[in-house]
Parts: sequence; structure tokens; C-alpha cells
Amino acid sequence: MKIFFAASEMTPYAKTGGLGDVVSALPRALRQLGHEVTVCLPFYRAAQEVARDAKPIGLTLSIPLGSRTVTGDVLELKQSDGVRVLFVRRDEFFDRSELYYTGLRDYEDNAERFLFFSKAVVELLGYTRFRADVVHCHDWPTAFVPVQVRYREQTRGTEFRVKSVFTIHNIAYQGMFWSLDFPLTNLPGEFFTPESLEFYGQMNLMKGGIVFSDAVTTVSRTYSLEIQTMEGGFGLDPVLAARADDVQGIVNGVDYTLWNPATDPQLRERYTPEDLSGKRACRADVLAKLGLEAAETQPVAAFVSRLTEQKGVEVLVGAVEKLVKSGLTLIVLGKGEGKYEEILAGVAGEFPRQVAVRIAHDEELSHQIQGGADLLLVPSHFEPCGLTQLYALKYGTIPVVRATGGLEDTVQQYDSRTEEGTGFKFAPYTSAALVEAVQRAILLHKQPKKWQKLMRNAMARDFSWRASAQKYEKLYAAP
Ligand code: ADP
Ligand code: GLC
Repeated sequence: MKIFFAASEMTPYAKTGGLGDVVSALPRALRQLGHEVTVCLPFYRAAQEVARDAKPIGLTLSIPLGSRTVTGDVLELKQSDGVRVLFVRRDEFFDRSELYYTGLRDYEDNAERFLFFSKAVVELLGYTRFRADVVHCHDWPTAFVPVQVRYREQTRGTEFRVKSVFTIHNIAYQGMFWSLDFPLTNLPGEFFTPESLEFYGQMNLMKGGIVFSDAVTTVSRTYSLEIQTMEGGFGLDPVLAARADDVQGIVNGVDYTLWNPATDPQLRERYTPEDLSGKRACRADVLAKLGLEAAETQPVAAFVSRLTEQKGVEVLVGAVEKLVKSGLTLIVLGKGEGKYEEILAGVAGEFPRQVAVRIAHDEELSHQIQGGADLLLVPSHFEPCGLTQLYALKYGTIPVVRATGGLEDTVQQYDSRTEEGTGFKFAPYTSAALVEAVQRAILLHKQPKKWQKLMRNAMARDFSWRASAQKYEKLYAAP
């Protein structure tokens, strides 16, 4: 099949979270299944710095955007894994320091930026050399693609036919804009109705993706059910309910060529389930790097995350004092909303030897933390899939997670009687519940033999992409 991905993130060109990792790894897995895969991405400043070999292909797209016509140049990069990446260049929109959000607010022209990009994708699909069997779109920034595809089919007939798949990575971000932005779509007024893009008087791009795509997926089975409830649907649950038969949860995988402690070049020492000694060196290395102290018998926990309400920063902060008093050392690596960055910096000041906070997006440090920590804390309010707990499992770093979404599906509660399981789970969204779960972990950590067995359980779990890529393959091929 010819598969075309439209996305707003792809590691290593542009990443704020797990979406970037998925859009890098899934195309590679599909390529390995024998498909032709192209990924189309905005040419952000970050991408310009990384994709130095991207070459202009001599194609300039002209995109109507309300009363303007805006041009975009197309660049191409052939990756060594065989995946083709196309970048759409429009410096006015994408030559900026961040992707969507400045730490204080969203860019004011996000509707323009991503409507432009989505229309550019559909324009590209009209060229013979970019024709595809399926276009796979991800989250609100490319949710307009299925809408535009449907409109093209309506106005130009089946000569333009491409199947569209829309994946919800996070329903909390819907691409909601005021109605005065609707003319930027250049669609007739019938697209601004409750059956279409209109949502309580506003324009909701994710709603368009859900309504107009041929199939809707999300990134874990439990999350696919949660988003169809009032608590989890962020208002879109009735829209999803109308398509319940077409909504499917396909769990994300891990790219083990990038995330594997046996080969990870960013670690101080490599290690395997058979020989865990390297993990000790990684732990000492990361503690020294961050100026922390911890006795061998005291576990080191980590929190690596975007800093938003979703991730349970407040639950974590409320637990820190008790955890530190229980002997835990804590490493935080995160970036996001200013208010959380401030609170966390304050916590570090209170416990300088036991808590280190790094406010940054630091890919290398994130690997070193996965290698060096004993526990990974993921107290998310909601979590569509979550990748950090999957990386942690592979690195023998035991996840302590709130039982929600993909965390519920991918971490198996440790049972001290059978010594089975891969981590510790808790249900209430409270600091007390997090503390209780971490204390279970601290107790077990005092029994090194049992702890090592748990580490090996975790490291033995296989979340490689192949099985999930085959599910997408089946979906793409379905009539
Ligand atoms: P989400 O997509 O909601 O942010 P995921 O767990 O799916 O959550 O993916 C997060 C990804 O972003 C992981 O690859 C994680 O290592 C990475 N990440 C998050 N915060 C940081 C950070 N501050 N520095 C480096 N990597 C980070
Ligand atoms: C979103 C979700 C996260 C998921 C990622 C990749 O950002 O918050 O849970 O793992 O997308 O699908």
C-alpha cells in the first residue's frame, strides 16, 4: 500500500511529546511490513536544524486561506529506513521557537497555521507522484485533512479518492477556534453546522476529523472506551458515540532501536536482564550529574513529562514531602505550563539533596534518567497511551502509575504472592494514593532478590510496534 501520514510532530525533527515518537516509529514499522510510507510535516525551525539534507523538490503549493492565497514550498528527505519525509515550508507560520505554545499561551494564528498545513497535505495528495491509498492523520492539527478530502470528493468526484484514518492521541486538545476563523477553511456554510465543524458556536477541528474520516482510532483500548464517556470525552463523547462502530483502540509500541538499555549510546553503561550491573553505573552517573545523594538501599524515582494538568503534577507535588521522608530520591525532568514549572522549582529548593528538577526538554537526559532510576512515577489524571512507562519497563525502571487509559492496559499490578506483575498501580487521583503505591514499591525494594525478579518481569515485556502496525495495516486495507 501507499500510505501517507499527515502529522504535526515526528522525532527527531519536531517533538513535544509521544506523538513525535509514534509518527517516527509507526511509519518505520509499516515500511518493514513492505509498504511505501510518506510522512508530511511542517518545516518548523527545529526541523530545519535537524533535517539538513532535506532538498526542495521545485514544487510551490498555492493554498487558499480565507481571502488570501498562501504559498508553501515542498522539501523532501529520504530517511535511511526507507521512509520518505516531505516538509511544507512557510516561514511565516513555522519558523518559530515552539510548535504550538509559548509556555504562556497558544500562538494566536494556530487555526491559520494548521488549516494551511492540512490543505497543503490534501493538495499534495492530488499530485500523481504523491497519490496514496490512505492518509493517516493525527490529532487536531491535521484533523482538517479528512474534512478537506471529503469536500474534494464531493466537488471533484471519485477521481480524487483516498481513504482517511484519524487517530486521537489526546482528546483534551481539540483545535477549538472562534467561528470567525471558519472562513479560513474556504468551505461552504453547510460545513459549519452541528453535524459538521460547528461545536457550541465555535469551530472544532477534531470534531471534523471524527465526523469525516473513514475510520477513527485511538492509542489504547481503555482510552477508546473512556473517550466515549462524559468524564473522558471533553464534550466529544456524543460525536464519538455516533461512530462507535468505527472507533478502535490500537496500543502504541516502542521503537527498540532507540529505547533499549542493551544498545543505548546515551547511557553511561549498557545492561541486559541477564547482567544488570550496568544499571548501577547509570544510577550513580545520573545522581552525580544532578547533584543528588541516595544510599544503595534507597530507591530513586523519576518523573519525565510535559508539565500539564493531564500529567498529575499537582498530585506529585502533594506527595513529595511524604515520599522524601520515606527515603525516596526524586528526579523531575519536564517542560510545559509556567505555573507547574514554578511549583516544581520551589519543591527542589526545599529538598536540595533529595529532589532535582530540570525544566527543559532534554532527550539525552530522558534516556539517562530511564537508565538510572529505580522507579518511574506516572500519576496522570488521564493518559491516552503513555510511552514513558513502556520505556521504563524496558529499562527495568519500575512504573508506578495511575490506573487510567494506556497505563491501565500496559502495566500489570505486582503481586507479592506470585511474584508476577510489572509495576504498581493506584486508582484514586490523589497524592495519598500515589504515596501508598510508592510505599509498596519502597518495601519491595528492600528485598533485592524480589526486586530483581520484578525488574526482569518488566524488561521481558514486549511492546514492539509490529503487532500494532499490523492492526493499522488491516484497517487501511479494509473496504
Ligand atoms: P505525552 O505524549 O502525553 O507527552 P507520552 O508518555 O506518550 O506522553 O510521551 C512523552 C514523550 O516525551 C516521551 O518520549 C518522553 O520521554 C518525552 N518527554 C516528555 N517530557 C520530556 C522532557 N522534558 N525532556 C525530554 N523528553 C521528554
Ligand atoms: C498523547 C498522549 C499520550 C500518548 C501520545 C502518543 O500525547 O497524551 O498518552 O502516548 O499521545 O500517542
